[in-house]
Amino acid sequence: MVNLEASPLSDHNHILEWKNLSLQVPKNDKVILYPQSGSLRSREILAIMGPSGAGKTSFLDVVSQRVLSSDSSASITFDGQSFSMRDIGSYVAQEDALHGFLTVKDNIRYSALFSSPHGTPGNVIDEMVKKTLGSLGLTDVRKNRIGAHFQRGISGGQKRRVTIASSVVAQPQILLCDEPTSGLDSMTGYQVASAIKRLAEETNTVVLASIHQPNFETFSLFDHVLFLAGGHCVYQGPTTWISMPPHMNPADHVINLINTDFDAPGETGIPNHERVEQLVQAWIVYSSGSESDGRDSARLTSASPGATVGAGLKAACGPIRARTKRSWHYRFVGELKRTWILTKRTALVLRRNVVLVTVRVAMYGKYVAVVVTRAFVGLLLWNGKGFMSALLATVWLHMEKTDARVNDRISVHFFSLAFFSAMSVSAVPLYLEERAVFIRESNNGLYGAGVYTIANTVVFVPYIFFCALLYSGIGYWAIGLKYNGWAFCRFVLFLFLAVYAAEAQALAVAAVIPSFVGALAGVGFLIGFWLTFAFSLLVQNDFEGETFTCATLADGSCHCSFPSSLISKGQCAVAGSDILKSLAIDHFSPGFYAGALVIICFVYRLVFYLVLRFRKSPP
Ligand SMILES: Nc1ncnc2c1ncn2[C@@H]1O[C@H](COP(=O)(O)OP(=O)(O)O)[C@@H](O)[C@H]1O
Ligand SMILES: [Mg+2]
Repeated sequence: MVNLEASPLSDHNHILEWKNLSLQVPKNDKVILYPQSGSLRSREILAIMGPSGAGKTSFLDVVSQRVLSSDSSASITFDGQSFSMRDIGSYVAQEDALHGFLTVKDNIRYSALFSSPHGTPGNVIDEMVKKTLGSLGLTDVRKNRIGAHFQRGISGGQKRRVTIASSVVAQPQILLCDEPTSGLDSMTGYQVASAIKRLAEETNTVVLASIHQPNFETFSLFDHVLFLAGGHCVYQGPTTWISMPPHMNPADHVINLINTDFDAPGETGIPNHERVEQLVQAWIVYSSGSESDGRDSARLTSASPGATVGAGLKAACGPIRARTKRSWHYRFVGELKRTWILTKRTALVLRRNVVLVTVRVAMYGKYVAVVVTRAFVGLLLWNGKGFMSALLATVWLHMEKTDARVNDRISVHFFSLAFFSAMSVSAVPLYLEERAVFIRESNNGLYGAGVYTIANTVVFVPYIFFCALLYSGIGYWAIGLKYNGWAFCRFVLFLFLAVYAAEAQALAVAAVIPSFVGALAGVGFLIGFWLTFAFSLLVQNDFEGETFTCATLADGSCHCSFPSSLISKGQCAVAGSDILKSLAIDHFSPGFYAGALVIICFVYRLVFYLVLRFRKSPP
């Protein structure tokens, strides 16, 4: 995002211009936004105001190029050129999207790392972060975690400022903020707004911000204001030009005039919607006249009166492309760098995420009694999967190799798989938490779906492998499965493949259905359709080549629960291969089944990537 050619701190005045931006609902042609035109220079702030539902967010969505204007004649230019907002702009949505488990500084630092060109020295990044923390008054809380769920974190006003800081640390040339002060008390709102103003001046940025109910001090910070009512512009110009009754907050005054939510005749006796109609008309007459009277208002004019909203025509706001074309090599190295940074952050979040561990442990509700007595084991291992293995081992400790225990042995494999696969749903809340951050960061051009998918894979593959190894390392030997090094290695590998497939599946489902309950239902539905592969692999691996002693009855005869080929050879035992045969798990190629699991993992990862890559842009 940082433009190397034009230093963001240079004195050069940039100009953002937009023409005929409008928005219609394609389905019913309802107009959300009537054609808007205007321009704004760097270091200036345009406040977008109006009652809720006036079209403020829609206006920002169109200016930010997240939504295409309905009017084919629409254009957005920067210094007279068409451009991609992803490259030089940053959008701060109304909801905070931060990593709750990371500190204030970490959240901002990672944004800085993503957006700075590779090769930027560490101390330069540190300096950028320090300056941003200072500008937004976050220096004192820099070491605090944002907070999530049960963890108390920083205040709402501080969160807003961290979100803004994460966007501005990338030094965008255009900053768009949707209601940065909403939900904050007036003092905090003022601080946030003045921080934005300071940034605009310090970093030569063009700022557009929708503002709800600013007090007089906050309102006075803005250079220009656009008042919207029902998608119409009723005023656009310098804040100082608003004529007002004495002792009244100009913002309140105008909002009172244009609010049609409570449509009762006001003091004037004219119904509100008619008054708005009058204001719109008055503005059209005024603005078309003022263009010729030589005042500066030509820079900030509203919709031209005759402009029509293109009949549902969807067209891009002019050709949108990156300002500078980089070489293939430069971009590749950049992607690698971002993948590496995101991998580090994903690992950090995983390490700090106690919810993940808690959810996994909570799944053993069935074993509550055992959980309590064995809690110290779990604490010692500090991992759901290690905990699990301790539990399984107590139920099936040192199983004898007799045919009476064959069913228990099969159960071990079944439960290992079923439990671990079920635990993969804990990946869902982790992903959903991160989703908002991903959407904000990818919309702002920090990285894409590919980088995100790869980083997630790079972190979770070793994590799942470690979990499988930890479980097997304890469970395999404690239970007394086949005493053979290679068999153990295969056990770990097959278990890992199955658990990773479950994890990848949970993530793919959560990407398609981004809600916890919906994703749970989806996971529940899909789970198990490929578990047979893993189950067959584990059972075959454990039984092949083993012999199990059968019971010798009082009369000296031999009794086996499975048809045995060994009895005829004078042995009172049943061969593992006999058992596999009667279970019908004997005719398959382990390589083929393991390959199938690998392919399933790949397919789910691909689905995850494609869903993120082609999701509809604004959330
Ligand atoms: N995709 C959409 N489909 C239908 N109506 C929409 C859509 N997006 C926004 N609107 C409507 O457009 C109006 C403006 O919405 P919005 O820009 O969110 O207002 P504001 O941000 O000023 O509160 C609202 O009445 C809203 O219901
Ligand atoms: Mg809004």
